[in-house]
Amino acid sequence: MKYDISITKTKAQKERPADESALGFGTIFTDHMFMMDYDEGAGWHDARIIPFAPITLHPASTVLHYGAEIFEGLKAYRASDGTIRLFRPEENIKRMNNSAQRLCLPEIDPEGCLDILMTLVELEKDWVPHSDGTSLYIRPFLFGNDPHLGVHAVKSATFVVICSPVGAYYAEGINPVKIAIESEDVRTVRGGTGYAKCGGNYAASLRAGERAEARGYTQVLWLDGVERKYIEEVGSMNVMFKINGKIITPELTGSVLPGITRKSCVELLKSWGYTVEERLISVDELFDAAKSGALEEAWGTGTAAVVSPIGHLFYNGREYTVCDNKIGEVTQKLYDNLTGIQWGKLDDPFGWSVKVCEG
Ligand code: COI
Repeated sequence: MKYDISITKTKAQKERPADESALGFGTIFTDHMFMMDYDEGAGWHDARIIPFAPITLHPASTVLHYGAEIFEGLKAYRASDGTIRLFRPEENIKRMNNSAQRLCLPEIDPEGCLDILMTLVELEKDWVPHSDGTSLYIRPFLFGNDPHLGVHAVKSATFVVICSPVGAYYAEGINPVKIAIESEDVRTVRGGTGYAKCGGNYAASLRAGERAEARGYTQVLWLDGVERKYIEEVGSMNVMFKINGKIITPELTGSVLPGITRKSCVELLKSWGYTVEERLISVDELFDAAKSGALEEAWGTGTAAVVSPIGHLFYNGREYTVCDNKIGEVTQKLYDNLTGIQWGKLDDPFGWSVKVCEG
């Protein structure tokens, strides 16, 4: 079911960034955004693309007090055949609706949501950058918007999509990052909201991230919230290890985000004949492997950074170097293949790319 989207174009187009090498991540926004409101009974209504502008909220709005917010992140690419494409958008839509269920927020019709993304990206197609490694990051977000302070599932909500031309997420680009194991704070617990992409998970992660950065590390490696023993994620990414030739990634226990890049990497690796184990992996198993030399590669996976090699791991006062602080063979192959498919430089055997329009 498609929503009836009205389009009001801006009268003051912004200047697009001249130097795409300086894009960074999420600081520049395009000319328009999508908005749609939900009210119990009426359902979703007033689907509209409007000029990019601040949002006005009631001071008692649920999102400001109880954190009723979920979001997604996906990218539009300018492919080498001149088309603008999305990467597995139906997976983001599915995950967003799972997140909505967890936070008692209203779901969005999947077909309608894809149409919203396609319509907005087509309108903003000139904002999709041209240089290698760049893309248009799309940030859909949905929040509870009841104008009173009672704690309950919301009756009103707002769905917004904004777009930002981006380059590399980490200043390091595809170079190895330094990661510290976090033994104090936890990101989330099983039964909590770990599998949902909600703002609160990221808010809870900030203190550990700040502490790691102050000590010279790019991000933290999260351990499970109950035993503080099993590895869950790295920073805001999923994590994978190559140990004795096999690929190991934490299983989706409920506290781990089901990453779309994670899923794509698992599918690619299996298609190349690797054994991929999705299972619990303890920090002791990881560091035993690091000590014995069995740990060959480690990397994070996420939409923003794609694939990010881990060069150093810090735990309990000791630092281990992974893969000589270089990009490992499998990490590089995953990066090359994923970005090759995304930018249309390689065949897309899985049919992951969705054409939006001609560029
Ligand atoms: C991703 O890479 O998928 C993320 O969610 C990162 C984002 C929070 C900036």
